[in-house]
Amino acid sequence: MKLPPAVAILVFTLIFVCDAYIINVPVSQARKPVWQVPKLAKRLRPSRHHLQPLRKANRQPVQSLFQPNRRTKQGFQLKATGTDVKLTNHYDTVYYAPITIGTPEQEFNVAFDTGSSITWVPSVHSPPDHVDERLYSRYDAQLSRTHSTNYKHFHVSYESGRAAGYRSQDSVTIAGLTIKNQSFGESQMEPDLFRGTGNDGVLGMGLSNINEGEELSVFENMVSQGLVDSPLFSIYLNRYGSGGPDSVLTLGGTDTYYCEEEFIYADLTVPGSWLFELDRVQLSNGDGIFSESGSQAIVDSSTPFIVGPMEEVDVLNTELGGMLVPSYSRQYKFDCSEVDSMPGVEFIVNGEKLSLSSKDYVVKIDDVCYSGILGMKWMETDTPVWFLGLSFMRAYYTQFDLGNQRMGFAKAYTFPNEVSL
Ligand SMILES: *[C@@H]1O[C@H](CO)[C@@H](O)[C@H](O)[C@H]1NC(C)=O
Repeated sequence: MKLPPAVAILVFTLIFVCDAYIINVPVSQARKPVWQVPKLAKRLRPSRHHLQPLRKANRQPVQSLFQPNRRTKQGFQLKATGTDVKLTNHYDTVYYAPITIGTPEQEFNVAFDTGSSITWVPSVHSPPDHVDERLYSRYDAQLSRTHSTNYKHFHVSYESGRAAGYRSQDSVTIAGLTIKNQSFGESQMEPDLFRGTGNDGVLGMGLSNINEGEELSVFENMVSQGLVDSPLFSIYLNRYGSGGPDSVLTLGGTDTYYCEEEFIYADLTVPGSWLFELDRVQLSNGDGIFSESGSQAIVDSSTPFIVGPMEEVDVLNTELGGMLVPSYSRQYKFDCSEVDSMPGVEFIVNGEKLSLSSKDYVVKIDDVCYSGILGMKWMETDTPVWFLGLSFMRAYYTQFDLGNQRMGFAKAYTFPNEVSL
């Protein structure tokens, strides 16, 4: 079988990334499969044919499309607490929002990364061939009277390029909340992965590993400076072009408006990280158990799909009827006509099921149905981690609860005007 060149590139990217991982650092520092498939952004662009019904749906005022009193019927609270940050969805691969840094304020778009505590934006002191000022906003410390520098370096690698430079401190404002003395990176390079997305940098919503002497991350500072009502945040991610409500990050609160069911909770494994324990992974039809007790998982907004330990993912994809894509080992595809009847994949957490349907875990590109569950190699000495990425987050409204040291998951509500692509 000969793949169209564009698909071949995508598939290659997937394999290369996942196959190349051999991780020999502790879980807390493990390189994660961040933003590994920028090529997918283009491929997920819906065709014009798909866009037409969506445009019609979008013309209606969003509010009128919701079922009235849904939440009261189910006993949910009506009024959300917390501060909402609207996220822009770039083709289901990057979700970003505007922030400002400095006094007076300099504006940036940043992708929210729940899998890392590192925040960075491009620096004005970048070689022009590293950061194109026509494409990206660049931070100029000299224009800010609240800026201070600490001369430490920072470095973060992505699958498509890296960000590196030095650390600074300044006021960071998100949705009107101003965090003082926030440490962040001024990057002198821009990873390719954000090219053409409208995004400039990254806001690390992870927790700092205090034992390793990291500075407090953005959310920890928000809590310590008393900017949020409760020490938690929650994320609703929509499906690109679905006509549903905007994606939203709620700082200091939870909006059950986006929830279909009650929350399931999982305690954090260690302080300073959003990792939690995964009992096992199984199929909804009762076939095979693929991951035994002892795995860790993290909800990671910089991983587009689901990434798990290689051997388990191989078994799981095979059990689902996946076929290896010729000449690209480890990449599985399905017969598209089978997809609707394929079983769900269940992540068992604290004895409860978090379930993804085939619509959630299959990625359809040019009429080929790929598995969006990818394998990654781990050293035998390490505890494997499952990265539950954006495809998981679209299916589950997720609460990151620092105060109670736990994660909360509620099946995301399917809004009546959501159109399946
Ligand atoms: C921020 O840093 C300045 C200068 O070091 C200090 O005076 C101020 O108290 C700090 N503010 C907070 C909220 O940490």
